[in-house]
Amino acid sequence: MKTISSALELKAYLRNENKTIGYVPTMGALHEGHITLIKEAKKNNEVVVVSIFVNPTQFLAGEDLDKYPRRDEADKKICELAGVDVLFMPQADELYFEDEVKIVAPNVRGYVLEGATRPGHFSGVLRVVMKLLNIVNPTNAYFGKKDAQQLNLIELMIKQYFMDVNIVPVDTVRDADGLALSSRNVYLSKEQRQEALKIPKSLYEASKMVSRGIVNVAEIKEQMLKILEPLEIGYVAILSREFEPIDEVVIGESIILVEALVGDTRLLDNIWL
Ligand code: PAF
Repeated sequence: MKTISSALELKAYLRNENKTIGYVPTMGALHEGHITLIKEAKKNNEVVVVSIFVNPTQFLAGEDLDKYPRRDEADKKICELAGVDVLFMPQADELYFEDEVKIVAPNVRGYVLEGATRPGHFSGVLRVVMKLLNIVNPTNAYFGKKDAQQLNLIELMIKQYFMDVNIVPVDTVRDADGLALSSRNVYLSKEQRQEALKIPKSLYEASKMVSRGIVNVAEIKEQMLKILEPLEIGYVAILSREFEPIDEVVIGESIILVEALVGDTRLLDNIWL
């Protein structure tokens, strides 16, 4: 595995290779969810590139940028074992410029749900993803369905900016107890982890209701909120796959999303119905 920290060096290296590139952007603290993305990338590309960059522009003031888990050495080993060809580990001062041309999140879709509780977060995500995709220039880029709103906005950016990359959404990986894997799970105490399980339970209950023929959004939401008590809820939303409001769930076309605070840890989860 080749490790490169310079954007221009990576660009030159990949251009010379002239092969299909599968790309997995990450912020490190790699877990089974990331390994699943890498495995997917390995299936359909000649070269697999992973980046590790804890992107400062997607953290709001007072968020966990400084304590975000950083495990470079362990992550390098994981990448090597997973068969990654190139690991890109840039520094912030190389990716960002002082007086910069900025891409920002759309006014509506970028400021609802997670964007409402974290205004500006998605501008930071889109800004770095645009840069990373331009540096790597991949054939396929792999993103987890767990960050459904992020995925939706990236797909929108690719379409609206006529970018030449195929986005591959990959299913959420869960621990045996049902909790969706996230680098932030390390913040949870044993008791908090038990509380956090209310999130996948509420989603599971919602999917059971739908399979019993209950499709009314208000009814499903009410039941989910009961299960989630007493967690502090960011949002429970039942939407179309295009993130439009709906009154009734349509199988194959809907998504249910939850954001809840467990202790100080914000957890996201969703289910694609
Ligand atoms: O999902 C993440 O890990 C990050 O938001 C991403 C896409 C790597 C951008 O920093």
